[in-house]
Amino acid sequence: MNNLDFRENLLQIKPYVPGKPIDEVKRELGITDVIKLASNENALGPSPAGVKAAEECLKGANIYPDGAAFVLRNKLAERLALKPENIIFGTGGDEIIFYFAHAFIKDTDNIVVPACTFSEYATSALVMAAGVKKVPMTKDWGPDLEAMLKEVAENTKACYITNPNNPTGTLIPKADIEAFMDRLPERVILFLDEAYFEYADDQDYSDMNKWIAEGRKIIVLRTFSKIYGLAGLRIGYALAPAPIIDIMERVRLPFNTSLIAQAAAISALDDREHVAGSRKSNSEGKKYLYGEFDAMGIYYVPTNANFIWFDSGRDCVKVFNDLMKLGVIVRSGNIFGAPTFLRVTVGTMEECRKFVAALKTVLGKE
Ligand SMILES: Cc1ncc(COP(=O)(O)O)c(C=O)c1O
Repeated sequence: MNNLDFRENLLQIKPYVPGKPIDEVKRELGITDVIKLASNENALGPSPAGVKAAEECLKGANIYPDGAAFVLRNKLAERLALKPENIIFGTGGDEIIFYFAHAFIKDTDNIVVPACTFSEYATSALVMAAGVKKVPMTKDWGPDLEAMLKEVAENTKACYITNPNNPTGTLIPKADIEAFMDRLPERVILFLDEAYFEYADDQDYSDMNKWIAEGRKIIVLRTFSKIYGLAGLRIGYALAPAPIIDIMERVRLPFNTSLIAQAAAISALDDREHVAGSRKSNSEGKKYLYGEFDAMGIYYVPTNANFIWFDSGRDCVKVFNDLMKLGVIVRSGNIFGAPTFLRVTVGTMEECRKFVAALKTVLGKE
């Protein structure tokens, strides 16, 4: 097309490639029995209370949702012992990442991110024509905080830490996060992504309330997509000191989170049975997979989330494709810069068993 005028910085961005959908694999490979352990979705399904609330609210679908999400905001504020003005909602954590970039990142800025982490921090900064400094991981696959600090420059606007980290599942204790923040120049904002917060073994690993009360330059991302199982409804949120939220609210779309998503989230918050069941199922699946990896002599990183990062010792794209032919969709590590690694979501026990059987076949470990 001639004369298509656009922001050329966008050409640096590779469109996001999501985990392959089940139907696509069935169509392409002509197989019927396919499981997806590729996108860290909740193996137990959505919160039943959330689904019920979503269904019930459909009758009111002719009315715009409450853009400010008053009921959900107040309920969450009370639950987290924060003020309503410390919260902003997005259509998933993804939208929060982009709101943050639109609100704070200028084209003269850069951001500092771990090399092996969620892609959207870098993408959102590239949309703003900002620079992205990627910092190699530690040998244990965690973000290298020391090395990240060294990369902070005059124009660094934000550092990103995913805790637990996606795709590696590592967790940084709160004392280390705080020490990192203490050493950041005052102008730098810490973007702390806690999308998998509820899966961590130690629920006391984040001092989010204290940091927000102290007015630190911090923003904490959480989501209803993971433990609450509402990924398909798209609702997530961020927690931060009120002045940060105030700036981000200026770029939020008026009715971003839907009526259905808000209703589901309100009810899912009280669905303690589903949350507890999801944690339990995840921890059983994790233990089983650790045992099988150990038995196969496969290196993996112990996880604090609902996925495991492991080294196949082979070309991960081939392993990925071979697993798919056996009806198991995982995530290949090349997209994270690790050509022999893969990430598998902890599924139900049945799904975990199917994955292990397929992996044994693919790696010739039967
Ligand atoms: C680390 C991390 N942050 C944020 C997100 C965004 O999730 P959502 O937009 O579904 O809330 C994901 C999704 O997989 C993630 O892994």
